[in-house]
Amino acid sequence: MDKIIVRGGNALKGKIPISGAKNSALTLIPCALLTDEPLTLRNLPRLADIDGFQHLMNQFGISTTVAGSRPEDFGRVMTLEATRITSNVAPYDLVRKMRASILVLGPMLARAGEATVSLPGGCAIGNRPIDLHLKALEAFGVEIEVAAGYVKAIAKKGIPGGTYTFPVVSVGATENALMAASLAKGTCVLHNAAREPEIVDLCNMLVAMGAQIEGIGTSDLIIQGKDRLHGATYRVMSDRIEAGSYACAAAITGGDVELVGAKASEMDATLDALRQAGVKVEDTGTGIRVASDGKLKPLTISTAPYPGFATDMQAQFMAMLCMADGASVLTETIFENRYMHVPELNRMGAHIETKGRTAIVHGVKKLTGAPVMATDLRASMSLVIAGLVAEGETHVSRLYHLDRGYERLEEKLQLVGADVERVGTE
Ligand code: UD1
Repeated sequence: MDKIIVRGGNALKGKIPISGAKNSALTLIPCALLTDEPLTLRNLPRLADIDGFQHLMNQFGISTTVAGSRPEDFGRVMTLEATRITSNVAPYDLVRKMRASILVLGPMLARAGEATVSLPGGCAIGNRPIDLHLKALEAFGVEIEVAAGYVKAIAKKGIPGGTYTFPVVSVGATENALMAASLAKGTCVLHNAAREPEIVDLCNMLVAMGAQIEGIGTSDLIIQGKDRLHGATYRVMSDRIEAGSYACAAAITGGDVELVGAKASEMDATLDALRQAGVKVEDTGTGIRVASDGKLKPLTISTAPYPGFATDMQAQFMAMLCMADGASVLTETIFENRYMHVPELNRMGAHIETKGRTAIVHGVKKLTGAPVMATDLRASMSLVIAGLVAEGETHVSRLYHLDRGYERLEEKLQLVGADVERVGTE
C-alpha cells in the first residue's frame, strides 16, 4: 500500500491549481439518470470516488465516456448517456464502499418510477442515517419500504409532489429531494434546505437541463416538476474544501500561495477564520492568495451548516492551530465522531484535549514527524498539514482516504516547494 512521506520545514510558495469539487461532482453525476440525452460534465476531479460513481452508473446501463485531458493537466470531462436504464438497484457492495451512492435514489426513482438502494450504514465520522432523505421523498408522495438492508422507493405513476421541512439541515437529503422533484408531476417545496455552494451548483445544472427551481441559494426551494429534462454541458464548481485545505497548509508553513480557480465568495467562513488567525487573504480575481509569516493566533470555531464554518474544514484548521500562539476551542456540531485525527496529531507532539464535541488545541512550539494514519479523508489531510511543519519525516499511510478527495495531492504540494513524496510499500 502506498504512503506519503512529508519532510517538514519548507514554506509553501507559488500557485496551486484547485480542482473541481468532489462533493458537487458526486451529486451532478447521478443527474444523468434524469434524462435520456447526453450530460457532459467538465472540470471533474480525477478521484477514486468519481471512478467509483462512474462504475455505479455503468451498472445501471448508463454509458460513460471520459475524454482524457493531457496527463499533466488536472481534471477531465465525462459524458454520461442514460438512453436506457437496465437496472434500478444499487447493491450493497458498491454503496458500502461509497456512501454518496445514496444520491442515486432520488433521480433513479424520478426516472424509472422505482429505485432500490442498499442502506449505507455508518462510517468513521458517525452514524450518518438517511431518514431525512426518505422523509422528504415520502412528503412528496413516494412510497418507501425498508427491508433486508435495502430501501425501495416507489412512485409508479410519477412523484405527486408536496412540502417538506427539514428538522436539521442535510446536504445529501436536500440533493436527493431536489433531483427527484425536478421530474415530479406537481410542485415540491423544501423548507430549511441546505444552501451549500454545492447545492447551488446542483440547482444551476438542473436548471440548465430544463428544471424549474425558485429560491436557489436560499433555504426555501420551490420546484415545479417537469415532464422531461434534457441534456446539458456543465462545468463543476471549484473545490472550496480542497482550496481551504491548501490555505491551511500555506498558513502553517508561513508560506505565500495563490489558490488558482478558488472562489472567495463561496468560502467566507473559512477565509474569515484564516484572517482572524492572522493570515493575509486576498481575492486575486483568478483565485485566492494566502500569505502568512507563520505567526498564528488561536481561534474559537464552531462547525455549522453553510454559511457557517464547514465541518469538512475542522480537521485541517485543527492541525494549523496546533502551531498557534495560545489555546483554540473547536466545537464539532455536525458529526458526533469527527476527532479521530486528535490522537494522531498528539503523537506528532500536538497538545489537544477533547471533551464530547469540543476540542481544546493548546498551541505548541514545534511538531515532530511520526508514522501516522487516519480513518477519514479530511483527517488524513490534517496529518499532511501537520507534517509540512513538523521536524523530520511524517509517514502518512492509508492513502486511499486522500485519493478519494484530493486530486494528485503530492504533485500539487510539490508545485509549491513542499518536500513530499508518494512511495509504494510491500
Ligand atoms: C455532505 C458532504 C460531507 C459534509 C457534510 C456536511 C457530500 C458527498 N458529503 O455529507 O462532506 O461533511 O455534507 O456538510 O457532499 N443526517 C440525519 N439524517 C439524514 C441525513 C443527515 O440525521 O437523513 C444528519 C447527519 O448525521 C449529520 C447532519 O445531518 O449529523 C448533516 O449531514 P448531511 O448534511 O446530510 O451530510 P452528507 O450529505 O452525508
